[in-house]
Amino acid sequence: MKLFDVYPHHNIAIERALGSSLWDEKGREYLDMYGGHAVISIGHTHPHYVQRITAQLSSFGFYSNSVHIRIQEELAGRLGEVSGRPDYQLFLCNSGAEANENALKLASFHTGRKQIIAFRRSFHGRTSLAVAATDNPTILAPVNQTDHITFLPFNDDAALEACFQANGDQIAAVIIEGIQGVGGIHVAEDTFLQHIRRLCNHYGALYIADAVQCGYGRSGRFFSHDFAGVPADIYSVAKGMGNGFPIGGILIAPHIQARHSMLGTTFGGNPLACAAALAVLEVMQREALMDNAAKMGSFLQDGIHQLQVMQQVRGRGLMIGFDPPPSLKDLRRNLLFQHHIFTGEAKPSVVRLLPSLALSMAHANRFLEALRAEASKAADPSNTTT
Ligand SMILES: Cc1ncc(COP(=O)(O)O)c(C=O)c1O
Repeated sequence: MKLFDVYPHHNIAIERALGSSLWDEKGREYLDMYGGHAVISIGHTHPHYVQRITAQLSSFGFYSNSVHIRIQEELAGRLGEVSGRPDYQLFLCNSGAEANENALKLASFHTGRKQIIAFRRSFHGRTSLAVAATDNPTILAPVNQTDHITFLPFNDDAALEACFQANGDQIAAVIIEGIQGVGGIHVAEDTFLQHIRRLCNHYGALYIADAVQCGYGRSGRFFSHDFAGVPADIYSVAKGMGNGFPIGGILIAPHIQARHSMLGTTFGGNPLACAAALAVLEVMQREALMDNAAKMGSFLQDGIHQLQVMQQVRGRGLMIGFDPPPSLKDLRRNLLFQHHIFTGEAKPSVVRLLPSLALSMAHANRFLEALRAEASKAADPSNTTT
């Protein structure tokens, strides 16, 4: 059997990893400024993480949600503490799309309504409602098309107000990324998130904070939505939560009541995933990784700004985007094959940085040096592509 060919691949196969380094099967080392798409939060194969998962596997690997799984309760307690949401409730699942799917479904159950507001350039996942709320028609199958979703321009207060005025009594939820990731690193303005909160309160809708990519400490705060100083009703999380072990979840405000079988899952909350997620939170606290993300993020943004040729350097913490000029159209390729540095992209040509929150100063400097070498080619008319 062959693999279903849905991904364009670099011709590289990873054999091992540690911290912010990856090694391919030829033994070549790479710097990981991409974190496997914002997933690696505490660094690859962190010893505490390996030990936690291994210990759980040798006690028991799985049982269904028909019994108490104590490690789920331990995770809920620790996540409540680290996220600053001790009074919220946790539902565990396996991915970001699943987290958003459950968040949207829960908002509809809770309000009895069907309409959802999402935003232009949003990405919320590839399952049915999550993909319908994603602003990309090329990944929407005919069966996923629905008129329950209204897309509004991002950070546009007037459009938001007008939509609520017209249909406020039908709107179940507003879903928004604190920093749009796949859409190209666009930060939601604090005043815009405050406006969403006010309108949701007024019209009885729920505010869903999609923190799948921008959450879990990446911005320097636990949720990048926290910069606005207003709480969401539901936060969806995944990616950095398990540092590579598949796990997602929604944090649900205390005023939203559960009833049996409203939501459910076979694998969500399995003990191995909970052990991984606990290890992540323990390391985040012990190694002060949110502070490190804030510090290294400012250092990188300043360094990229200083190169001058990179336009619109933006983001928060270790979620950074910038636009190289057209003369550097092969920048990411050159970083990978000449400097051995992984970066991310967003269409059409945004470079996205999503490294581990434990990125060191030496690694940040290594990246900036490589970028400087590439930037110098922008001024060179003989610049050729590789
Ligand atoms: C903001 C956001 N939400 C949801 C998802 C979907 O997550 P997953 O791929 O784990 O389903 C992503 C993935 O990139 C994302 O960036």
